[in-house]
Amino acid sequence: MKKGCPYGTHRVLEPKGVLPQPAFKISNDMEIYDNEILIDVQTLNIDSASFTQISDEAKGDVEGIKKIMKGIVDERGKHQNPVTGSGGMLIGTVEKIGPALEGKTDLKVGDKIATLVSLSLTPLRIDEITDIRPEIDQVDIKGKAILFESGLYAKIPEDLPENLVLSVLDVAGAPAQTAKMVSPGDTVVIIGGTGKAGMLCLYEAKKRAGVTGKVICLDYSEEGLKRAKAADLADEYIQADATDAVSVMNKIADVTDGKMADVTINIVNIPNTEMASILVTKDEGLVYFFSMATSFTKAALGAEGVGKDVEMVVGNGYTKGHAEISLQIMRESKALRDIFEKLYA
Ligand SMILES: NC(=O)c1ccc[n+]([C@@H]2O[C@H](COP(=O)([O-])OP(=O)(O)OC[C@H]3O[C@@H](n4cnc5c(N)ncnc54)[C@H](OP(=O)(O)O)[C@@H]3O)[C@@H](O)[C@H]2O)c1
Repeated sequence: MKKGCPYGTHRVLEPKGVLPQPAFKISNDMEIYDNEILIDVQTLNIDSASFTQISDEAKGDVEGIKKIMKGIVDERGKHQNPVTGSGGMLIGTVEKIGPALEGKTDLKVGDKIATLVSLSLTPLRIDEITDIRPEIDQVDIKGKAILFESGLYAKIPEDLPENLVLSVLDVAGAPAQTAKMVSPGDTVVIIGGTGKAGMLCLYEAKKRAGVTGKVICLDYSEEGLKRAKAADLADEYIQADATDAVSVMNKIADVTDGKMADVTINIVNIPNTEMASILVTKDEGLVYFFSMATSFTKAALGAEGVGKDVEMVVGNGYTKGHAEISLQIMRESKALRDIFEKLYA
């Protein structure tokens, strides 16, 4: 059996010498190396920015979406959207475990797992797309995937529905990072706050900012805002288009007496919202860009252009304990669990 690198570099076809995520093409041959895990895939949770782009390109046509998704995997050996660069994650059953992993993993054949590494680096073969649930970015397939030795995963807990777990784990980094960066008394603005990740971030922000803090939920969706309000997820709710930076800034100034935000979390699924995030943040405040539609250039040059000294953080999909923190929200908050079961389970 062939010996593999823990990071999966042995599967990179082009360009040579890079890691699987930035690679253009990787091998999706499903014969495993000695340190790989073969997964029989059940469902893909496509990253929201990626699914939105694919769906727009296909004009919402399901057959068109299938064709684009299969085309991506045929070309790259992985589901990495060429426009957004992002992936998503998957749920499936462990089918084979390479012998070099003996004693190194707690997994056994037959375990149901969610991968916690992006589809943008996961070798994937799609044999058939059996169902698409566009409203929650989930796609059922017949196919296989490979988890590298360094690949993170979570066993599916028995007390929560599988599709709900998949949806929550897809964005697990966001609420876990929010928990770490919000302090008592902070004013926090969450742009895209009524989306899947947004609601989890609102919950963590409110918990960490405490009674002396203020959590502001900003979103385009009126229905989403009504839902978040009914669940009491924030202190203020603002309907606005985050691509209209100045209008967003004025609305946040109104509800903060001009003081603006200590922490701003951008969690939308569309481009051109960098400036709204920067303008609503006070000098020396923190902007956390979790959205995959974020442009580094627009954020960096945009902040400079308006003379804003803000710290800007790239949303790392992983932080220690992210799976536990995000799934725990589903156990702690009945209101959020009800919403998530209705929307995503
Ligand atoms: N950094 C990472 O590792 C990582 C991992 C996973 C996901 N992500 C990214 O996280 C983001 C959120 O994912 P998600 O699954 O939570 O997506 P989601 O459920 O689709 O939420 C996005 C929210 O943004 C709102 N929105 C869209 N356009 C807006 C506008 N112009 N102004 C204000 N709000 C607007 C949407 O409202 P409507 O419903 O009205 O459209 C929705 O409520 C995506 O960009 C995704 O790619 C990042």
